[in-house]
Amino acid sequence: MDALQLTPLIARRGGPLQGRVRVPGDKSISHRALILAAMTVGKTEVAGLLEGEDVLNTAAAMRALGAGVERIGDRQWRIHGVGVGGFAQPAGPLDFGNSGTGVRLAFGAVAGCPIRATFDGDASLRKRPMRRILDPLEKMGARVVAQAEGGRLPLTLQGAADPVPISYESPVPSAQLKSAVLLAGLAAPGETTVIEAEATRDHTERLLKHFGAKITSKPHGDHGRRIVLKGQPELEPANVAVPADPSSAAFPMVGALITPGSDLILEAVMTNPLRTGLFKTLLEMGASIETLETRDDGGEEVADLRVRASQLKGVDVPPERAPSMIDEYLILAVAASFAQGTTRMRGLHELRVKESDRLEATADMLRVNGVDVAIEADDLIVSGKGTVPGGGEVKTHMDHRIAMSALMMGLASEQPVRIDDSAFIATSFPDFVGLMRGLGADLA
Ligand code: S3P
Repeated sequence: MDALQLTPLIARRGGPLQGRVRVPGDKSISHRALILAAMTVGKTEVAGLLEGEDVLNTAAAMRALGAGVERIGDRQWRIHGVGVGGFAQPAGPLDFGNSGTGVRLAFGAVAGCPIRATFDGDASLRKRPMRRILDPLEKMGARVVAQAEGGRLPLTLQGAADPVPISYESPVPSAQLKSAVLLAGLAAPGETTVIEAEATRDHTERLLKHFGAKITSKPHGDHGRRIVLKGQPELEPANVAVPADPSSAAFPMVGALITPGSDLILEAVMTNPLRTGLFKTLLEMGASIETLETRDDGGEEVADLRVRASQLKGVDVPPERAPSMIDEYLILAVAASFAQGTTRMRGLHELRVKESDRLEATADMLRVNGVDVAIEADDLIVSGKGTVPGGGEVKTHMDHRIAMSALMMGLASEQPVRIDDSAFIATSFPDFVGLMRGLGADLA
């Protein structure tokens, strides 16, 4: 994507948000479905794939590694896998664009194959830490043969011809790190173990089971898990239906909560408990979010949610909730700005290494729009007064979630909110603007 051609956008206060929508497929599951299907022997069809730029880059990378990956219809994809350890050396660098998930999971997939691959990304991804993933992969036998300063992209990895299984205690709560180790562990003999002190999203574990791997996940300590994978399985192809992304549903959800008179239904939103920290927090703030119907969709629970405009109140968000809502603090901060009272979000150090430094960026987004906000160590404190002046221009720092959060703020603030660039929204939510306009949002 050309970061030099900025596409500004302005959100203005208008009528209520109303209607019924299904947001696009889950980003985490879409990446994993492509990568794991590429590691089976045979043909898998994926329905409801998120066709955002992040996931399309992962699709291209799997193709460059030798898997057959083709689009066979609207959000319908077919993957011909090459089997565990079967990736071929790519002819050129693999470009993951803006996506930390894509590149880190691909490190793991490549680490267990005797091939050399170069990984790269855009200016945002080139700033993000990769060492945390490379450390365990090196223990398993992979080697970093070239890297930018500080273990950053562009980076060349030599996969292991004979990967060794490890038992790894994760130093940070990261589903990407856990997933990279498990993907590398597929090619190693014996058992690969990941121990996490805080449970993170478990889509890799669920999909591994779906494709026939032997994997167990047991509670560990107060909030953690111990995951054990038996290596060298023959993964069986199995079709995947991708449910709607709760992290994308978060934007129209908060837009409706803060815009007077709103009443909308979000269809088939995934409610995996390791992803629903935001919904829980909003309910504590007094949000009207009603579960209309729950059902199973492709191994994940989904629900139709009715959301109505609500007067919110400030709450204290405990640090242990962070992994289940790590991508939602920006939009929660918007909700907190319209609440009455103080919201304290605790333990947000991981936000500093996302698509941007989201702790600073969230505070800036609020400050330029007249909201009283402070950062104390790793906590974000928002003093809500029920209304937001607005009128600010928000710098999006190549970060899709800043862009969408700021636009939701502008739907209910006294003055319009402008973002400097809307282009990166396409990384995770391709028709965000069209979908929001269809609900009544004034975005121009
Ligand atoms: C993701 C994990 C999270 C999250 C990201 C998606 C995943 O990152 O922020 O958007 O799909 O595994 P970390 O694992 O770095 O916390």
